[in-house]
Amino acid sequence: MTNLSILYISIAGNTGSFVNDLQEYATEQHQINPARPTITLTEISDATPLKAETDPFYAFVPTYLDGGNGIDNGVKELMTNSLGEYIDYADNASLCRGVVGSGNRNFNEQYCLTAKRYGQQFEAPFLADYELRGTSKDVARVYTLLVANLHQSH
Ligand SMILES: Cc1cc2nc3c(=O)[nH]c(=O)nc-3n(C[C@H](O)[C@H](O)[C@H](O)COP(=O)(O)O)c2cc1C
Repeated sequence: MTNLSILYISIAGNTGSFVNDLQEYATEQHQINPARPTITLTEISDATPLKAETDPFYAFVPTYLDGGNGIDNGVKELMTNSLGEYIDYADNASLCRGVVGSGNRNFNEQYCLTAKRYGQQFEAPFLADYELRGTSKDVARVYTLLVANLHQSH
């Protein structure tokens, strides 16, 4: 397989910026070595109609939580629910190969918690995390992880 599909949601643009950098990096890597996959991006928002996916994908989700400590009392997910609903639709969860989370470490135990919760809910591995818009090192690290995962699962 020479393409890797990412579904993502981005409220304030950080995740959008990261996955665009990742896509650009993937294109460069593919030019160096055609065996390395390119990346297709699909943004999910409240306006996205639910659709049954037919190909494997990776989900990228930031964390927006209200209240709770993220461990032993309730957390309420804000803003990002439409991606969770999309993955939950039809058999989409079975095609989700992994979840990559982003957030802000100032949130301590709640750091990237939505991605971890999606991983549990959809029985997909929590593959990686990065803060805010990520760095070029994060881009290279996450790409390497995705490629390794892609090879494992085929
Ligand atoms: C109201 C609000 C709540 C947030 N809650 C969390 C949180 O619980 N854990 C975390 O890691 N980051 C939290 N963040 C940080 C965001 O996840 C982070 O800014 C992320 O990069 C936003 O991605 P986006 O720009 O693609 O929407 C919160 C940010 C806001 C504005």
